[in-house]
Amino acid sequence: MRPSARAEMSLLIEQQGPVVHVTLNRPEVRNAFNEVLIAELTAWAASVKADGPARVAVLSGAGKAFCAGADLTWMSKMVAYTRDENVRDAGAMAGMFEALDRLPIPLIGRVHGAALGGGVGLAAVCDIVVAADDAFFGFTEVKLGIIPAVISPYALAKIGRSAARELFLTGARFSAARAKEIGLVHRVVPDADLDVTIGSYVSEILTAGPEAIAAAKALIPQVWPPGIEAATAPPARAIAARRVSSEGQEGLTAFLEKRKPSWTR
Ligand code: COA
Repeated sequence: MRPSARAEMSLLIEQQGPVVHVTLNRPEVRNAFNEVLIAELTAWAASVKADGPARVAVLSGAGKAFCAGADLTWMSKMVAYTRDENVRDAGAMAGMFEALDRLPIPLIGRVHGAALGGGVGLAAVCDIVVAADDAFFGFTEVKLGIIPAVISPYALAKIGRSAARELFLTGARFSAARAKEIGLVHRVVPDADLDVTIGSYVSEILTAGPEAIAAAKALIPQVWPPGIEAATAPPARAIAARRVSSEGQEGLTAFLEKRKPSWTR
């Protein structure tokens, strides 16, 4: 089949036979997601059907990084929104992660460079994650005076409470090797081997029944961890509150002004 390509403003979608390549395409901000990218990614995820042409999707980032998380310029502007607008907007971000998490076909994450904040969240909603050995991760939100909120159900489901308590509370960066150790990443390979490793996962998936794959994927969250569906609303309210708090505003502004936040000792 001839590849077909569709370019949204900040998302590239390319169908190659049964494989759809979805590329975050805001390399100038390290693929940070704003409301436009959130809407595009959510719409794409909602359009994927278990019996459609795509049997597997590969999520990657254009340029130097996989994803630098939420767009901090957009986050910092929330202070000018009404409370309802802020909560609705946080709900849209939560909806993106939910739609990706529930994708009826396998989603393979191709992580290179940075995966920070919501970028780790994107890795967490992938079924399979292949990372370059020099990729780095971090739940950096607390460094910015905000919290890993809407990604927390998915991140916790992958890494468990113990690693979350360490990594959510320090905001420290961690290596691809550590990400594999805590269950966020499945394979760590040299950057040059990312595509061939993903190719072997794709080949494996294409020999399995698409309906069986969709049913197996849908079964997992029903069995473990219990209650993940009920856990998605409180985090959206929590990030809506944090990002307009004075500490959140100080952290976001400090990043954008390239200075240390006032609390740094
Ligand atoms: N939101 C908005 N802009 C961002 C961004 C984000 N999450 N991450 C990076 N950018 C912007 C930078 O401000 C910079 O803009 P400029 O060119 O106008 O100065 C540009 O992207 C490139 O970033 P830079 O830091 O110069 O690139 P780098 O390759 O040296 O480092 C990162 C990349 C991702 C490691 C670094 O930008 C970073 O730590 N970003 C913050 C990520 C984060 O903590 N995200 C959590 C959000 S919840």
